[in-house]
Amino acid sequence: MSYEYILVDPQFKTHIALVRLNRPKELNALNLQLMLEMKQALHDLDEDENVRCIIITGNEQAFAAGADIKQMESRTPIDLLKIDQFETWDQIRKTKKPIIAAVSGFALGGGCELAMTCDMIVASETAKFGQPEIKIGIMPGAGGTQRLTRAVGKALAMEMVLTGKFISAEEALRSGLINKVVPEEVYLDEAVKLAKEVCQMSPVATRLAKESVNKAFESGLQEGLFFERKNFYMCFSSNDQKEGMKAFVEKRIPDFKGN
Ligand code: CAA
Repeated sequence: MSYEYILVDPQFKTHIALVRLNRPKELNALNLQLMLEMKQALHDLDEDENVRCIIITGNEQAFAAGADIKQMESRTPIDLLKIDQFETWDQIRKTKKPIIAAVSGFALGGGCELAMTCDMIVASETAKFGQPEIKIGIMPGAGGTQRLTRAVGKALAMEMVLTGKFISAEEALRSGLINKVVPEEVYLDEAVKLAKEVCQMSPVATRLAKESVNKAFESGLQEGLFFERKNFYMCFSSNDQKEGMKAFVEKRIPDFKGN
């Protein structure tokens, strides 16, 4: 399927799909159609048996500079309610396969929120993260106040959300927002390296493990522990569990099939 605002390569590398935001003149501002395309693409890649990990990226200048301000400018609250502006973000959260954001340049507002909705973030040294909505008289609406606070803690989140200040990739790394910082020339390669590691694991265990880590953000400890335990037990219904443990005993690399 071809899209207007994103480029999708389901076979970018073995088992790795790439979704590239493609509105370079607008710094990949996230208009509604782009997000609908993203929703559809992620849904399809989740269904694609060949894909084990998804990378979302932009270009060197911008991952995404936020929701499209020009499109939002004249909206009323009822427009937003009817459009359900952020419903498409839910699909990203619901994607069962791991998603890595490969970020260079601006990741602002909805762009920062999009990256935070992914499972891991690899950034180039030039990346800048921020929630500058306050400067245009609004506030984050696609998870910024929640995910940022959980990732970096109250002090820095409050400062970023209330002043709109950007943080560098190095500061984002130090504060726990992202996984890696690498030179700009290799940020996508580095995301691929990480994706390859993920792809070597059992897809069944990966899915259950991702679900369980996400549960930690959405439940109390007891409920999370209970959920984790059930998912742990469920791993033992897979052939991958048998293969993984047999391979360990036989001192060889496991061949996981995802069943
Ligand atoms: N929406 C729409 N268009 C945008 C945009 C956005 N979020 N960000 C950049 N653009 C457009 C600019 O209007 C400009 O278009 P024209 O050439 O037609 O004028 C083009 O992209 C290039 O941008 P600049 O000329 O401004 O580039 P710069 O290098 O001088 O500045 C920037 C870069 C600091 C990122 C600046 O563009 C900027 O501040 N952008 C807005 C960032 C922002 O406020 N994001 C939050 C949006 S609200 C949101 O995301 C809500 C939510 O929670 C989901």
